[in-house]
Amino acid sequence: MMTKTLGKYLSFLFIVCNVIVRGELDKEVQADVLASKAFGGSSPIESSCEAFIDKFAEAAANFTLCSILFASPIQICQSCSKQYLLANDYYQTILHGSPVDWKNRPCRDATLNLDRVHIVKQTGDYINNLWNNCFCSKCFEKALITKNGSLEIIVSNHTKHFQKLADNMLTCEWNTTSGNLSVCSHCNQQYTALNKLYEDLAEDTGEICMDIVDAVNRTRQRWSKDYKCSIRKRDHVAVIIISVIFALIPVVFYPAVYIHSSKKETDLNRQREHQMTTETLVRNSHSSQS
Ligand SMILES: *[C@@H]1O[C@H](CO)[C@@H](O)[C@H](O)[C@H]1NC(C)=O
Ligand SMILES: *[C@@H]1O[C@H](CO)[C@@H](O)[C@H](O)[C@H]1NC(C)=O
Ligand SMILES: *[C@@H]1O[C@H](CO)[C@@H](O)[C@H](O)[C@H]1NC(C)=O
Ligand SMILES: *[C@@H]1O[C@H](CO)[C@@H](O)[C@H](O)[C@H]1NC(C)=O
Ligand SMILES: *[C@@H]1O[C@H](CO)[C@@H](O)[C@H](O)[C@H]1NC(C)=O
Ligand SMILES: *[C@@H]1O[C@H](CO)[C@@H](O)[C@H](O)[C@H]1NC(C)=O
Repeated sequence: MMTKTLGKYLSFLFIVCNVIVRGELDKEVQADVLASKAFGGSSPIESSCEAFIDKFAEAAANFTLCSILFASPIQICQSCSKQYLLANDYYQTILHGSPVDWKNRPCRDATLNLDRVHIVKQTGDYINNLWNNCFCSKCFEKALITKNGSLEIIVSNHTKHFQKLADNMLTCEWNTTSGNLSVCSHCNQQYTALNKLYEDLAEDTGEICMDIVDAVNRTRQRWSKDYKCSIRKRDHVAVIIISVIFALIPVVFYPAVYIHSSKKETDLNRQREHQMTTETLVRNSHSSQS
């Protein structure tokens, strides 16, 4: 998803640039470029805005590189937070800060409103969209650049807790598969704990940082597709057990009935024999009496 968005963004820039290069260059822009080349960055006024644009270019490249490297599995929130904060900080300074260009225009006017492409704005928006679409701020208690320029990044407790459960799950999977044991039964506890925390988070906020969403999604995929131990399988097992019990009922019932009835029959026979002997005895005694 991330790589696709970036691809779209780059091809958009490419197309727009082509259109503009083929069209007539804005005379004023051309003059600006010439003038700025002539000054060669020696003017302190000019270099103020230009230096920020240089820095932004580098920081945006750093963030883009990082986001692609950590796109699969998605880890951009936790792995690229520093790059994001720096890039966004330069971008915000260009948009709202005090630096001015060599004509003493605010940096914003010098970069944003001179052409149809708005490359700087496109890039800044792209970076912020990626960060916000991933709900990255939800991973952190705090992620900002303080007034004195130091980075303050504190990962939230639930992210740390989640990371620990995810690590437990991976360790268990690794241990059991390398030992040829069943992941389904050995890692059931770890799997349940991970899912439970995720469900709790989803219930609390609904907006979960993408690092966590992706890790859960991948774990669930492995659980059901690779190890084939989804909940449904457990249902199957229950159904099979119940079916076997029901199937066994006649097998147990008829012999039980047979044994019981044959026991009754022998009892009856014995009773009858007993009765008969008593009758004979009585008859005998009667006959002897008469
Ligand atoms: C970009 O990344 C490089 C290498 O990590 C680092 O040295 C440099 O300071 C970064 N640039 C900015 C503007 O953050
Ligand atoms: C910047 O401010 C933070 C607190 O906001 C402080 O901990 C840190 O030491 C400061 N750094 C410098 C270089 O002054
Ligand atoms: C996070 O955990 C730390 C230490 O375990 C604790 O001091 C802090 O209050 C917790 N923060 C929140 C928001 O629960
Ligand atoms: C996995 O194996 C390592 C050593 O081989 C052991 O220290 C660890 O406790 C095991 N973890 C689990 C979840 O079985
Ligand atoms: C795991 O089982 C497979 C076949 O079921 C066997 O070929 C393999 O040697 C076993 N590996 C271990 C470590 O026991
Ligand atoms: C989970 O993974 C599947 C396939 O791997 C993908 O189609 C789906 O979009 C993912 N869901 C989320 C929320 O990332």
